[in-house]
Amino acid sequence: MEDEREFIVTPWEVRGEVDYDKLIREFGTMPINDDLLNRIKKHTNDLHPFLRRKIFFSHRDFDWILDKYENNEKFFLYTGRGPSGHTHLGHLIPWIFTKYLQDKFDTELYFQMTDDEKFLHNPELSLNETINYAYDNALDVIALGFDPKKTFIFLDTEYMKTIYKIAIQFSKHVTFSTVKAAFGFNSSTNIGMIFFPSIQAAPCFFPSVLKGKNIPCLIPAAIDQSVYWRVARDVAPKLGFYKPAEIHSKFFPSLMKGGKMSASEPESAIFTTDSLEQAERKVKNAFTGGQATIKEQKEKGGNPEICPVYFYDYFLFDFDDKSLSETYNNCKNGCLLCGEHKERLAKSVKDFLSDHQKKREKAKNIIDKFILRD
Ligand code: TYM
Repeated sequence: MEDEREFIVTPWEVRGEVDYDKLIREFGTMPINDDLLNRIKKHTNDLHPFLRRKIFFSHRDFDWILDKYENNEKFFLYTGRGPSGHTHLGHLIPWIFTKYLQDKFDTELYFQMTDDEKFLHNPELSLNETINYAYDNALDVIALGFDPKKTFIFLDTEYMKTIYKIAIQFSKHVTFSTVKAAFGFNSSTNIGMIFFPSIQAAPCFFPSVLKGKNIPCLIPAAIDQSVYWRVARDVAPKLGFYKPAEIHSKFFPSLMKGGKMSASEPESAIFTTDSLEQAERKVKNAFTGGQATIKEQKEKGGNPEICPVYFYDYFLFDFDDKSLSETYNNCKNGCLLCGEHKERLAKSVKDFLSDHQKKREKAKNIIDKFILRD
C-alpha cells in the first residue's frame, strides 16, 4: 500500500517513512493496547522490551489465543524466513520475540524457509543459492537458543510432500483475482509465485493436520507478511481450521536516513556474518540526528527521533529503560555527541555479533536436530 507520503509495505518491498497507525487502519489489524499487555503479563510475569516499547504494536486475534490458552488449549508458533541472503539484525527481531513466546508459553515452533519463494521472486538467485542460504540462515535461528525438542525448521523444497497436500487444498479456494488484488500479481507474474501464497499458508495448519485436531496458530512476524495471513484467514474456515492469529512488529530501521534495514542495501544493514570491523565501519558511517558541528550540537542538541544510532539502542542494544531515557535526554540537550554515541553503539554491536557468531558456529553441530524432511 502507498500513501500521499509514499510509503510502501509489501512482503517484498518496504520503502519510505512507515506510518504504523495508518497500516493498522488499512490492514484492519488491532493495536496492542494496555489491556492486552496486562493480560499477557499475567502469563509471562515480565513484559519483553519489544512489548513495553510497542515494537510489537499490532495483532489479529492475539486475545483469542490467550482465551484458548486460559482454557488449556495450547497454541503453536509459526514463523519463517525467505532465504535470499545472509540474515540481518532486522530479521532477528521477530525471531527473538518468538523465542520469548516459546519460553513463556512452552510452545512448539514451526519455522518455514521459503527457498522456493526467493528463487521464484528473484531473477538473480539460483535454487542452489536459496537452499544454501536457508541452511546458513537456520544457524542464526538456532543460535538464538530455541528448544530443539519443540522447534521444527523446514525448507519448502525438502518438506514438500507434507506441505503440498495442504497447499493444494488451500489453493482450490483462492482465485487469481484474489491474489492479484492482495499481492499485486499481474499477467507477467510467473505461475510459481501465483501458487506460492498457498505454500506460505500451509504451515498455519500443520499441527492440526499432523495431530488430527484443530490447534490454534500464532504467527510472530513484521507487519510486511500480514497480507499472506489475510488470505490464509479467509480460507481457513472453509477447510475446517481455526484462523491463524498474528502479532506484528515494526521494522528495525536502516543505518542510512529513513527506511528499514534492508538486505538489498548492504550499508543500511548489519548482517550476522559481518566481521566486527565491517560492523564497526557501518555504525561509524551511519546517518545521525546530530548537528553539523560539535559546537552546534552542544548549543542546539541532537534529534534522537530521526537518529538510527538512537533507534539501534531502542530496538536491540539498550533494554534498560532508565539508561535509554538518559541517552535520549543527553542527545537532546547536546551532552552526548554523535561520535561518542557511535563509539558506544559500535562496541555493543561488536559484543553482540561476536557472541552470536560463536553460537552460530556451535549451531552447525546440532542443526540436524531441528530440520524436518519428508
Ligand atoms: P523475510 O525473509 O523477508 O523476513 C524474515 C522475517 O523478518 C521480518 N523482517 C523484519 N523484521 C524487523 N525489521 C526488519 N527490518 C525486517 N525485515 C524483515 C519479516 O517480517 C519476517 O518475519 N515470506 C517470508 C518467509 C516466511 C515467513 C513465514 C515469515 C515464510 N513463512 C511465516 C514470517 C512468518 C519472507 O520472505 O520473510
